[in-house]
Amino acid sequence: QDDDFRRVISHAKEYGYVFQSSEIYDGLSAVYDYAQNGAELKKNIRDYWWKAMVQLNENIVGIDAAIFMHPTTWKASGHVDAFNDPLIDNKDSKKRYRADVLVEDYVAKLENKIEKEVAKAARRFGDKFDKAQFLATNPRVVDYQERATTILKRLGKSLEKEDLEDVKKLIEELDIACPMSGSKNWTDVKQFNLMFGTKLGASAGSAMDLYLRPETAQGIFVNYLNVQKTGRMKIPFGIAQTGKAFRNEIVARQFIFRMREFEQMEMQYFIKPGTQMEWYETWKKNRMKWHLSLGFDEANYRFHDHEKLAHYADAASDIEFRFPFGFKELEGIHSRTDFDLASHEEYSGKKLQYFDHETRESYVPYVVETSIGLDRMFLAVFSKSLQEEELENGSTRTVLKLPAVLAPTKAAVFPLVKKDGLPEIAREIVADLKWDFNVEYDEKDAVGRRYRRQDAAGTPFCITVDHQTVEDRSVTIRHRDSMEQQRVAIEDLKGIIHKEVDM
Ligand code: GAP
Repeated sequence: QDDDFRRVISHAKEYGYVFQSSEIYDGLSAVYDYAQNGAELKKNIRDYWWKAMVQLNENIVGIDAAIFMHPTTWKASGHVDAFNDPLIDNKDSKKRYRADVLVEDYVAKLENKIEKEVAKAARRFGDKFDKAQFLATNPRVVDYQERATTILKRLGKSLEKEDLEDVKKLIEELDIACPMSGSKNWTDVKQFNLMFGTKLGASAGSAMDLYLRPETAQGIFVNYLNVQKTGRMKIPFGIAQTGKAFRNEIVARQFIFRMREFEQMEMQYFIKPGTQMEWYETWKKNRMKWHLSLGFDEANYRFHDHEKLAHYADAASDIEFRFPFGFKELEGIHSRTDFDLASHEEYSGKKLQYFDHETRESYVPYVVETSIGLDRMFLAVFSKSLQEEELENGSTRTVLKLPAVLAPTKAAVFPLVKKDGLPEIAREIVADLKWDFNVEYDEKDAVGRRYRRQDAAGTPFCITVDHQTVEDRSVTIRHRDSMEQQRVAIEDLKGIIHKEVDM
């Protein structure tokens, strides 16, 4: 982990965003708890998604299905047979790796090298620097790019054909070219199922083996006809859901990027067969727009269209985000065909056909899904918001520039001093604002330190009550990002804050 990422993790802890689970028992690997501010940020991200999906789309409705599902669900969905990760053990270090991730890490190293070369050249050539031309012509960069593409192609092909021997060979070659673990002593690659099992029922004889759901999507598929009928939905229509999913991840590092218990926000869009490419493109665009609406630089996002497809998809693309450790998957958009519904028909023996009253046809709909990890979105937002700023007076400040709509606390209210009736007025303001927003009262330390604390916690506004307030009922409101202060009437505060923080 490099310094930027370490700073993100320690800031998340120090400011009450994310704690390691069961920390007093030294934690549980790849399981995390959201603390007082984290729970609010997470809820706001979830609400921001839900509003865009459910509230703003007449033809999308939301459900909340159970985590436990009938075990046959996972036979039908393909997860029992195909939801595997290829694992490889290093015999010397006794460490276990996901073979595909190990190879991808090597490629990320190459990408890093390319970025460094670009930055170096940009510094050297200044205004005259032409990035596109540099990428296309610099021999070293071209070589890195070619090597990365070749490696990924070989990996993709080998995993597709399940030719795990070749993946092992690839890792051995990479180890020689660019040692990752300092060892060439690898076991064979083996497939490992990622689902967690548990049991339903008390008596040993009648207990039923269950799985904790590895994706929320199946809760939508098995309910689709109930929702369609009771909601009188017409194709095309969508069903959205947020909720926990569980995967026994092997590469469980990178903080909340890859967890064993995590939350997904998924939407399945039911469409007429044959129209899937149109809807797939539409949802790719819609989802990118949603991300960009938060105001982070466009350069932090890119699409990665898959050549290697999951067992259920006929087209798939990731929205990748520039995390502190490089570009990685944030969201997936998948064209799932009728794979799931047709399979559930077969396994359940129940018809899952949609009847189109206008054309008088029945068919099993196709599905385009959008699937994003809430925790991963949290990490994207949190890491990109955390900034060290140099101020004009030469000092630095740590500021968490969360989009105001997502910030856990919208405003902090300070009495300048703890006397002269200022605390009472500040308390009054809190009492009035708290019906609309999360607000905080703080009277401890000098006001400059209170500003810094709120900057680091991500609070977009600080309101200060001073002696002038007693005379004319005006206060100062300070904006986190510009640090500018305005003098405004107490009665205008609500309007000013609403304008910035409303979804
Ligand atoms: N229903 C499709 C599906 O589950 P996926 O690509 O396996 O597709 C979708 O997962 C999203 O869920 C990912 O893009 C990622 O944001 C999130 N996700 C998957 N595994 C995760 C994990 N172990 N920890 C955190 N987020 C995860």
